[in-house]
Amino acid sequence: MQEKGLSENTIFKLLRELHKKDFKYDSGGILSSMCTKPHPIAKKAYQMFLETNLGDAGLFPGTKQLEIEAVQMLGSLLHNPKAAGFIVSGGTEANLLALRVARNMYGVSKPEVIVPISAHFSFDKAADTLRIKLVKIELDENYCVKIQSVKKAITKNTIGIVGVAGTTEHGAIDPISELSEIAEANNLYFHVDAAFGGLTIPFLKELGYDIPEFDFKLKGVDSITVDPHKMGMAPIPAGGILFRDNSYLKYLEVETPYLSELKQATILSTRTGAGAAATWAMLKHLGKEGYKESAQRCIELTKYLAEEIKKLPLELVMEPVLNIVTFKVKNAEKVVSCLRKRGWAVSLPTYPKSIRIVVMPHVKKQHLKNFLKDLKKFIDKR
Ligand SMILES: Cc1ncc(COP(=O)(O)O)c(C=O)c1O
Repeated sequence: MQEKGLSENTIFKLLRELHKKDFKYDSGGILSSMCTKPHPIAKKAYQMFLETNLGDAGLFPGTKQLEIEAVQMLGSLLHNPKAAGFIVSGGTEANLLALRVARNMYGVSKPEVIVPISAHFSFDKAADTLRIKLVKIELDENYCVKIQSVKKAITKNTIGIVGVAGTTEHGAIDPISELSEIAEANNLYFHVDAAFGGLTIPFLKELGYDIPEFDFKLKGVDSITVDPHKMGMAPIPAGGILFRDNSYLKYLEVETPYLSELKQATILSTRTGAGAAATWAMLKHLGKEGYKESAQRCIELTKYLAEEIKKLPLELVMEPVLNIVTFKVKNAEKVVSCLRKRGWAVSLPTYPKSIRIVVMPHVKKQHLKNFLKDLKKFIDKR
């Protein structure tokens, strides 16, 4: 650290130089991320609540109310206005909280949780942190968890099952209602990771897409992760964890004697209220109509991209269910590196080896047209 501070001008000159190195959502180059350019109204709300701390919520009762209302709105969307939970730092914290409830609720000495192999790596972190064994189940030809294998994997140590509604690599939706029934029949905790799909599937269903139930409508669902900082268009950090009701919170709470509230359930202690305010602002401002429009735009562009990729001709890993396209390419690493030099960030799933594109709200048709031109050049050259 230097002795004498720099001027505002110098600071911002230096910040701009480093910021230039970053990919920008507006260029369309970010095709690999489940995050997107935050909505201007969400940004404004975020800035307004920047100094708030939900870790000391008694000092910020207005911000706490925004969090409660944001959770209620998300709960209502997912068929449970009584849902209790938090706007947390992201899907990782949300999934960790869900497994923490399951572990503390069951009190088994060697707890096991059944997850599909497609589950996000945040479950590995959660399992390691909580000393839970993850039992990973293979997928069927649609990249969904194999139900028969889930049933077979249940042992006396099993405390819970996880299903994913919008897998990270393929956007596949596990058979949540079957998993819910298995969980109910075996008295197991059931968590749905809808970090990506939770703010898209309800709107696609309203638009007439044939997607099975995946939320609290199913009696076996105990908790759902749904992230406003993904398809919700809120700035990072804004993840969502919803439990069926507030009776679950006692499995998380620790005493916080020196603060303005005496108990705390989240992993983070000091935590911003800006994410809750931005989420509240987005849900109120966009409403169902706005989110439906966004989901429709993303899914239509996804279908366009998938059809154009087939014409190249390249083989899709699966027909897109949500706004993710994965396709097989020879020498995928080389193609990805050439694309990156041209300003396109795409990712490289391994199951199977392929290229993955997430069509988020910042992606426009012209971006995809330009991307396809470059992709064609690189696959022709291999
Ligand atoms: C399905 C799913 N769950 C959880 C996460 C983790 O979310 P975060 O990166 O916000 O912690 C992701 C991230 O992409 C995800 O796709």
